[in-house]
Amino acid sequence: MRIGVYPGTFDPITKGHFDIIIRSLNIVDKLIIAVAQDTSKDTLFSLKERVSMIDAEIKEHSDSANPNQFLVKGFQGLLVNFVHMNNASLIIRGLRAISDFEYEFQMANANYKIAENIETILLPAAETTHFISSSIVKEIAKLKGNVSSFVSSNVKKALWDKYHA
Ligand code: COA
Repeated sequence: MRIGVYPGTFDPITKGHFDIIIRSLNIVDKLIIAVAQDTSKDTLFSLKERVSMIDAEIKEHSDSANPNQFLVKGFQGLLVNFVHMNNASLIIRGLRAISDFEYEFQMANANYKIAENIETILLPAAETTHFISSSIVKEIAKLKGNVSSFVSSNVKKALWDKYHA
């Protein structure tokens, strides 16, 4: 069984992330969504909140996929250690635009240097989601704009509660 890991901060999960999650099943039999605890980002949502938002998203929207093919876990420390500990062999990341490329290329190479049995696969983001980022979504939500095109209704509500409730 081929197990892949899709790591990120997911603060919060967007429709762009979800698109990558679903499409990953064309490549792996099981996908572990690895939610980073240690991040240089000052996150709006706690690790527990980010994990449970992704869990809810998968339960509600992954209609054609088997929910058992997904596992959402928080992680600390080196990503490649997490990949090994979970018997996975692939890291999956989304690539939105050329601007993402340098960072992703650097990260993929660094991970390969420290763990040569782990490969990174970069999936091009769908045309409809390639401009989304969690920061943009948070800024729009903070200013009371409509984020329905970018996130699910659950995440939209969670953002509203954080900023305006
Ligand atoms: N759709 C929508 N948004 C997307 C996206 C997609 N398909 N792909 C990326 N993004 C956005 C995210 O929303 C995020 O936006 P933000 O910066 O506004 O928050 C941004 O692109 C990138 O964030 P994300 O994908 O969450 O990755 P990250 O850079 O925050 O996470 C880790 C990087 C956690 C995977 C990486 O730092 C890591 O592996 N850390 C562990 C420590 C380690 O092993 N370090 C060595 C690695 S070389």
